[in-house]
Amino acid sequence: MIMKQKYITQFSKSDEYRKKIHDFIPGGAHTYSKGDDQFPQLSPAVITHGKGSHIWDVDGNEYIECLGGLASISLGHAYEPVVNRVIQELWKGNNFSRPSVIEMEMAEKFLDHLPGHDMIKFAKNGSTITTAAVKLARAYTGRKLVVRAVEHPFFSYDDWFIGSTDVKAGIPDEVSQLTVTFKADDLESLKQVFTQYPNQIACVIAEPEKFNPVTKEYLQQAIDFVHSQGAVWIMDEMITGYRSYFPGSMVKFGVIPDLATWGKGIANGFSFCCLTGKKEIMELGGIRKKEQEKLFLISTTHGGETCSIAAAIATTEEFQKHKVIEHNHALGKKYMNEANKMIEKHHLLHSVQILQFPWHVSLTYLDSDGNHSWKLRTLFHQEMIKRGILFQGIFCPHFSHTDNDLEQILNAFDEACNTYKKALEEGVEKYLVGAPIKPVFRKYI
Ligand SMILES: Cc1ncc(COP(=O)(O)O)c(C=O)c1O
Repeated sequence: MIMKQKYITQFSKSDEYRKKIHDFIPGGAHTYSKGDDQFPQLSPAVITHGKGSHIWDVDGNEYIECLGGLASISLGHAYEPVVNRVIQELWKGNNFSRPSVIEMEMAEKFLDHLPGHDMIKFAKNGSTITTAAVKLARAYTGRKLVVRAVEHPFFSYDDWFIGSTDVKAGIPDEVSQLTVTFKADDLESLKQVFTQYPNQIACVIAEPEKFNPVTKEYLQQAIDFVHSQGAVWIMDEMITGYRSYFPGSMVKFGVIPDLATWGKGIANGFSFCCLTGKKEIMELGGIRKKEQEKLFLISTTHGGETCSIAAAIATTEEFQKHKVIEHNHALGKKYMNEANKMIEKHHLLHSVQILQFPWHVSLTYLDSDGNHSWKLRTLFHQEMIKRGILFQGIFCPHFSHTDNDLEQILNAFDEACNTYKKALEEGVEKYLVGAPIKPVFRKYI
């Protein structure tokens, strides 16, 4: 049943929360992209609960959530088979002074789907995992430099990545200088950076599919080239894992990166991430080779937490049981098609653009000079949120999103385009309430 179109105007408890929370928590949240400066003023500040594809804020407003817990939700909120498996595991105890049997079960289950990858290491955050991959690559090659895809927005909160953004405070220049960039999905740019820094590059890290369509040929050539230069290819599957394909793009394209990093949707919102890779590199973090120098790879108190591993096992089994990828892609494609038609209908093709891919469809908002407009972005999100769609510019379909949800998202989209068009003609300020969203990666607050 489609919910009756409603206009959410009541955010008083959210406003109280917004006023207080920054006294307790720097940034007011534990991910910068959840922060107040990433949302319009007329938006929920805090969520009480979720079920399936819907969430509720502290004022009791209900929303369809488009980005499912920053893309960590792949099946749905409070998804029963996952919750039940977690509860069963919790009754057995959640953390022991030696590994739990569930660790090998998960290791075998995950690696089973990854031809060419022999070993796996768990952690709670994606950043821990990408940083571990970089450390391994440096140890394996004996080199210092990291090359990252310049357009790909985020790899880690650790210094090797953040030092290469505009938010460098607290990071020594010496560290920042160790990360350089190449143009994503561009072999020539990749070659140039290796020419510029001969025999210095330890690894290249990139998401396999982000904004441009890529081919197996490109990926294979890029990996082969990097190998010919004595460096390591790290494929960051944090977003593509359990989304572009099951388990991810490396299998979809039949290529074997040296290391791959996984997180987000693989445990349906639970804190389980992992690093997989070739034995010759991963084994550097082991304790079996007697004469080898010890490498402190990942060692965390909570890395073996059983309930999150159980969530990952249950999530994986649901992906094996149901056609989750097909469901998600079908919704994503329909959204892309219909949203494009609406953009065209409202004569907004020059200002609102839809970027790849059906599993992670993002919008970009351009002003009349073709520059990104934070004001227009904020206005569009404000208009979606007003209509019960918690929108951050990205629709990342998951298994609990329904056709009815999509219909409602599209109804809101149509109306949001209408207001957006008027704002372009009459001035954004007339329609936007409060300050515009700011980029996460900015030098000053
Ligand atoms: C591609 C990519 N890699 C790594 C990360 C870091 O993951 P986490 O936020 O779990 O540390 C993210 C998070 O957004 C990501 O999108």
